[in-house]
Amino acid sequence: MTAFSNKNDLLTFSDWSSAEMNALLDLALDVKARPENYNQALANKNIVAIFEKPSLRTRVSFDIGINKLGGHLVYVDSQGAPLKDREDPVDVGANLACWADGIVSRVYEHKTLVDLAQGAKVPVINALCDLYHPCQALADYLGMAEKFGSVKGKTMAYVGDGNNVTHSLLIVGALLGCNQVVITPKGFEISPNIAQHAAKLAYENNVDITISNSIDELEKADIIYTDTWLSMGDDTPLADIKEKFAPYQVNEALMQKTNASFVMHCQPAHRDLEITSSLMDSDKSLLMLQAENRMHAQNAIMVALIGKQDS
Ligand code: CP
Ligand code: NVA
Repeated sequence: MTAFSNKNDLLTFSDWSSAEMNALLDLALDVKARPENYNQALANKNIVAIFEKPSLRTRVSFDIGINKLGGHLVYVDSQGAPLKDREDPVDVGANLACWADGIVSRVYEHKTLVDLAQGAKVPVINALCDLYHPCQALADYLGMAEKFGSVKGKTMAYVGDGNNVTHSLLIVGALLGCNQVVITPKGFEISPNIAQHAAKLAYENNVDITISNSIDELEKADIIYTDTWLSMGDDTPLADIKEKFAPYQVNEALMQKTNASFVMHCQPAHRDLEITSSLMDSDKSLLMLQAENRMHAQNAIMVALIGKQDS
């Protein structure tokens, strides 16, 4: 229990209900379709972004997105001096909340976010940590909903390193009624705790989850999704893992073994490593839709947690 347990943090989505998750996806669709109804949603609100890791999409989409909602963003560059070295994250959170109406933070360890949120009396939004990337997942299901009309009963298939993006896709997908396939090389599986929680959500929401090391399980996929083989903060040399990951590269031959019409990647992507350059640039690629949707999804999150809707 946090000191401010009734405030609206978004650290994982793990504790959201299916109804809340579906309502947020509907809001994201509406924010995208009718931005004029939300252009004052953050009027007179100030949001602080404090990032320990580099970012292109998240940083820029929050900044421009907040501007489109009538709010103001202050970016605090903690990359040079990691957030928790100078003072406790709980104190950073308490101080920022003296001025800000919300905090968006990208950190190495999930615990740093939990501490930040414990100290802050304003909502804290996870902009990526070692375990989760919730804003990314909402944006990606927004894209899937646009392409298929609905995500319910469809199948999202993730191939590659079991990581923060995989975890959030699983949790958000299970809450939205989207079947899940997760294929990783041996030794690079997802967190057993998160897999267990996702299985519980899947059971409650009538969703199938397949977790395997075999790419033969990809047949039913509607979308194939991949991500970098080495996430930020992982110093493993590429040469040490390249051979193990090579059979899991997302390429045209792999796509043809499946039912999938589209490919997704959260980016930054490494051309001809986890995904072929030609597939990235093909008409199957939803990468730029995903990038665009980061802003609409995050704006929906901020409208719901921090702002007020004028529609
Ligand atoms: N997908 C994503 O979060 O990109 P950035 O790391 O550039 O923010
Ligand atoms: N798994 C990647 C996602 C980047 C957006 C990482 O954490 O580096």
